[in-house]
Amino acid sequence: EKGGFEHFMLKEIHEQPDVIKDTFRGRLLSDKGIIRMAGVEDNLEKFTRAKRIVIVACGTSWHAGLVAEYMIEEFARIPVEVEYASEFRYRNPIINEDDVIIAISQSGETADTLAAIKLAKEKGAFVFGVCNVVGSSIARETHAGAYTHAGPEIGVASTKAFTTQITVLALIALRLAKEKGTLSHSEYLRNLVELELIPEKVKEALLADSEIIKIAEVYKDSNNCLYLGRGFNYPVALEGALKLKEISYIHAEGYPAAEMKHGPIALIDEQMPVIVIAPNQNHYDKVVSNIQEIKARSGKIIALVSKGDVQVRKLADHVIEMPQSTEALTSIIATIPLQLLSYHIAVMRECNVDQPRNLAKSVTVE
Ligand code: M6R
Repeated sequence: EKGGFEHFMLKEIHEQPDVIKDTFRGRLLSDKGIIRMAGVEDNLEKFTRAKRIVIVACGTSWHAGLVAEYMIEEFARIPVEVEYASEFRYRNPIINEDDVIIAISQSGETADTLAAIKLAKEKGAFVFGVCNVVGSSIARETHAGAYTHAGPEIGVASTKAFTTQITVLALIALRLAKEKGTLSHSEYLRNLVELELIPEKVKEALLADSEIIKIAEVYKDSNNCLYLGRGFNYPVALEGALKLKEISYIHAEGYPAAEMKHGPIALIDEQMPVIVIAPNQNHYDKVVSNIQEIKARSGKIIALVSKGDVQVRKLADHVIEMPQSTEALTSIIATIPLQLLSYHIAVMRECNVDQPRNLAKSVTVE
């Protein structure tokens, strides 16, 4: 049932090229420039008229929400807020009838997310669900939705659910952009074509595995780890850190790279591995200077770079190469090496990768 893999998590990491394809199958017709999702099409006006979109979720799904915030604002120019469902539900949030709520949940059973949906519905908002489990409570409770089609995710650490959530949310953001005319046609088409190439590029990113195993060996006994990223890769840094802490029990923090100088830089010494997501894209030079700051304080740098990178390679202690896509979609690719790194470190530390201590696959308690 693990398909020849040692753990469900590893199997699920490797399934990503296929399940991402499943997620956009029938929805993305890049040669025709069409995105078709029934749940969005049927409610297009609600989305395009929305004064704002509020995304509610927990954990990894909340990280996908942060990526979606950047995508929807960048492509469709609709203001987005992302909230932890547990905060939203208990703080008497301001919700209007012309707000759209997007609830993201792999299991579709997370108690706080479900309660947030019920509250938003009571206040008259339109609630759209992005779930993986078909027929789950959240899928039933929302007015409309789109499934991620990732197939069952058994490992407690979410992997393929995250990348397929980003895929669905990218489709939604691009569909809304087309409707609103907020993205040039060429940019729109470029993102569609690039989305179609993501499964191949994820496959290529998985090939870094043997390099990642070597890096895992060096850092497996660390007590702390920092993850840095900018823009669309900032949530990826948060997700990388969550993955490491939940399965290897190493304390890890994710930060937007530029925030480092506002505090976390004080933590950096030769004991501190810093994982920097540094594709050769917008703000590359800024990330390069962040890396220099870490190096000046003897931090160990593991950099995630674009294929063929020259500049970061000169500075970093280790590099992991990955293929590049559009800025938004590179977030999917950058996730892959971080999943593998956490996985290998956890295995080397003899942790129970698929069922980490104290955690449940779906958090149905409040
Ligand atoms: O099923 P959900 O997506 O609603 O679950 C939300 C979180 O409990 C979940 O993402 C959790 O953070 C994972 N263990 C992360 O790997």
